[in-house]
Amino acid sequence: MKLCVALDLPNAKENLDLAKVLKSEDVWLKVGLRSYIRDGKPLLEELKAINPNFKLFLDLKVYDIPNTMADAAESMAGLGVDMFNVHASSGKKAMSMVMDRLCDIPNPPIVLAVTALTSFDEPSFQTVYNETIDKKAAQFAKDAYESGLNGVVCSVFESALIKSSTTQNFLTLTPGIRPFGEDAGDQQRVANLETAKNEMSDFIVVGRPIYQSNDPLGVTKRILENI
Ligand code: C5P
Repeated sequence: MKLCVALDLPNAKENLDLAKVLKSEDVWLKVGLRSYIRDGKPLLEELKAINPNFKLFLDLKVYDIPNTMADAAESMAGLGVDMFNVHASSGKKAMSMVMDRLCDIPNPPIVLAVTALTSFDEPSFQTVYNETIDKKAAQFAKDAYESGLNGVVCSVFESALIKSSTTQNFLTLTPGIRPFGEDAGDQQRVANLETAKNEMSDFIVVGRPIYQSNDPLGVTKRILENI
């Protein structure tokens, strides 16, 4: 299991300072919408300059028509990121076109599909998708698997189920992790490290429990010792 730290701080300097604190740790760094819209490609380059071994996950959750998604995928691969994601609800045609577009690129990034956002609870999910979270997440995962993607973003609670309905090698990346029972914030479906391990999550995403802590390095080390 790998730890992916969400760089969701309010400005580039604070994100870079956090990366510097973590520079000797075996972690992935997640650059999300806020940071990428604001700080763009230079932020990615500065992160790699801090430690060329940092793996970067560009979490833009792309959702558009197939051709536009394939164009975006090519551009994201061109940024040199190690992983990016798209929405599974964009459909199999869009996801297949994304993977086709990457097939001539040497060392293409890992591509994940977002199934159900971890901020959804059952009633709010029903109003959008008219289906239960676990059924819809399993369907989205199957679509992503059949479209050639490498894995999915899902809650811990769907991880094992998704692996059993695809393959054990199909990756799961799970946000909503509160490693040692910290405050859930806006997340509805949170889990601790033990549950993430039992559910065979390949990547856990941790944001606030690290960057809002008084000791981000200490929390990171404790997480790494426990995964
Ligand atoms: O602070 P916290 O640990 O809740 O951060 C979780 C991170 O994972 C955020 O950057 C959020 O955007 C992202 N994420 C999520 N749920 C998803 C996909 C991504 O919480 N389904």
